[in-house]
Amino acid sequence: MSTVDEIKSRLDIVDVVSAYVPSLKKAGRTYKGLCPFHSEKTPSFVVFPDSQTWHCFGACSTGGDIFTFVMKREGYDFSEALKFLAEKAGVPLEERSPEATQADRRRKKLLEMVSVAAQFFHTQLLQSPQAEFCREYVARRGLSHDTVVSFQLGYAPDRWEALKSHLLQRGYSEQDMVAAGLLVTKEENRPGYDRFRDRFIVPIRDLRGQTVGFGARALHDGQQPKYLNSPQSVLFDKSAILFGLDMAKNAIRDAGQAIIVEGYMDALQAHERGFKNVVAEMGTALTERQLRELKRFTKKFVLALDSDSAGSAATLRGINLARQTLADSTPVPTPQGLIRHESRLNVELLVATMPPGKDPDDILRENPSLWQEKIDSALPLMDYYIQTVTAPLDLNSPKGKATAVKEIIPLLREISDPVEQAAYLQQLSRLVKIGERVLREELQRTPATTAPSGRTATTAPKHRFQPEPPAPPQTAAKPVNGGNTEELCLAMVVGKPEMLSAVNRKLFDHGADVLAVEDFSNPANRALFLQIKGWAVSENPTMDDLPEIVSETLQGHLATIMSLWVNQPHTPPDEYVEKELPKMIVRMRRQRLEKRLQELTALQSDAIEQNDRDGVRQWQQRISETRDTLKLLDKAHDALSIMGRRRIEEKYLG
Ligand code: UTP
Ligand code: MN
Repeated sequence: MSTVDEIKSRLDIVDVVSAYVPSLKKAGRTYKGLCPFHSEKTPSFVVFPDSQTWHCFGACSTGGDIFTFVMKREGYDFSEALKFLAEKAGVPLEERSPEATQADRRRKKLLEMVSVAAQFFHTQLLQSPQAEFCREYVARRGLSHDTVVSFQLGYAPDRWEALKSHLLQRGYSEQDMVAAGLLVTKEENRPGYDRFRDRFIVPIRDLRGQTVGFGARALHDGQQPKYLNSPQSVLFDKSAILFGLDMAKNAIRDAGQAIIVEGYMDALQAHERGFKNVVAEMGTALTERQLRELKRFTKKFVLALDSDSAGSAATLRGINLARQTLADSTPVPTPQGLIRHESRLNVELLVATMPPGKDPDDILRENPSLWQEKIDSALPLMDYYIQTVTAPLDLNSPKGKATAVKEIIPLLREISDPVEQAAYLQQLSRLVKIGERVLREELQRTPATTAPSGRTATTAPKHRFQPEPPAPPQTAAKPVNGGNTEELCLAMVVGKPEMLSAVNRKLFDHGADVLAVEDFSNPANRALFLQIKGWAVSENPTMDDLPEIVSETLQGHLATIMSLWVNQPHTPPDEYVEKELPKMIVRMRRQRLEKRLQELTALQSDAIEQNDRDGVRQWQQRISETRDTLKLLDKAHDALSIMGRRRIEEKYLG
């Protein structure tokens, strides 16, 4: 039995949940109470002792098992939840391996060294006569002593071995300095020299305030690059960090929104001027990990973008970044993707643009109240799109009208809330002076389905890689709900990561959501997918990298999934994965919904027994909704199957 199953078998979900939901009471075959995740007056939170699951049928409309419950309630990640529940259940967790302990120790030492380096640079800025020019620079940029101190800003001396000898004196090895990116070596085993020289130093800290790297700004004309950043290392992962989050997190929670700017300097200036809910991207695309981190504090994001000229490149880049991120790190090639995922991920994304030629730093210094105004008047993403699309068009000319309609209607299709959609349709109608009826017809016209890709299909050999393989030994004792299909899906992602984008594309084209964490119900599968999906869409994902990416607690599970793939007698070809995986994903969703349907039917019978007419009606409503969703899934499944058939027909029948 796996540790997860062992824990589940020893704990009763009713006990665990009761501790958080005092109102939980037995009602027929289930327990009901007030949902701990949203505020409500009538109980819509249900615990099912038989399946040991919970579900909120109210505003949250989510559910899961004991693991997802504590993860959501305590804000834990999977391994934290595992530790927490293992202790409760009295299940000993495996000791960390000696290698893991060693790696921990090394990481700790490197972190300590980087902190010493930050302090060194900081002291230089405050005290060194050599840093006079940099002090003037800081003053010129309008940063006060308080900001210099609270962000521990620094100066790297104009010498080859200033930091190096400082750290050597304190007993750190050159090898460690190289590993942390502080030294540069031209060749292996040659002495290294300081990476950062004669630069203004901005320490980059993680959520907890621990320095993990540096951004080092040029001070002189011609000094290239403008910013020299720490390289990716065991400590520093650009894709995981937002600059300033350690200083901004409380303000973000209090303000109920996070403002995301493009540059370090913009963020520093915002904090300087008392706008403390501001963080900066790291000069690369916002990643899903970054937004997920932010989502712990708020669900409302304002992108405060530099404005160059109208329809600026920077703005579009910003949108692109956010789009990729919100699309669950699956690049979605159209703005539709962003709107859809904004709906789906349940976040609100606004865009604030600065006056022409200005960046947030300029505005904050020249006119802080204008900054506030810009933030307050940030446009919802959809409005921003409409504005950007229509600005260069002549909306009185037939051609301009047609272009506007053609570009905007596909975006409107992605809005899931019908009222919101109708409101935007109305807005568009006024804008182009074309009747709403005509526009609605356009809206309801289904976009042409994409033709099957031109790639020549090879005859797919027969594979054992079928939906029901022998269960892996670890989970054999008690197959978790949907477990086999889930694990096969994961195995395909692990084995053919490069196909994930195509698979998602296919789902998307058939009106289904892309593969997401929510598709997995087994907590270990969820956690694993979360950890590997960034890898799957990275440049050259190889299976060899996986053990490094996946956390200690999930190594065993990863091995199980990998062996599922590796033990195939033949490696399934791309075509097979592209064809089968989307269908499998849809089937997985179906299974889950069918279970939901059973639960709902049980709840309805309870209501009938108790003569609770309102209840009966309510559950009936849910039942029909679920049936509708099921029908949609069936349609997607059929369409996906027909696509496959069509391709085969093309091949054999011309
Ligand atoms: P900006 O050029 O807008 O930087 O680049 P900034 O922070 O506003 O700096 P100032 O105001 O010109 O001094 C935005 C971000 O892109 C990354 C940095 O993270 C920077 O903050 N960047 C930019 C680099 O990493 N390297 C570069 O050479 C330039
Ligand atoms: Mn700037």
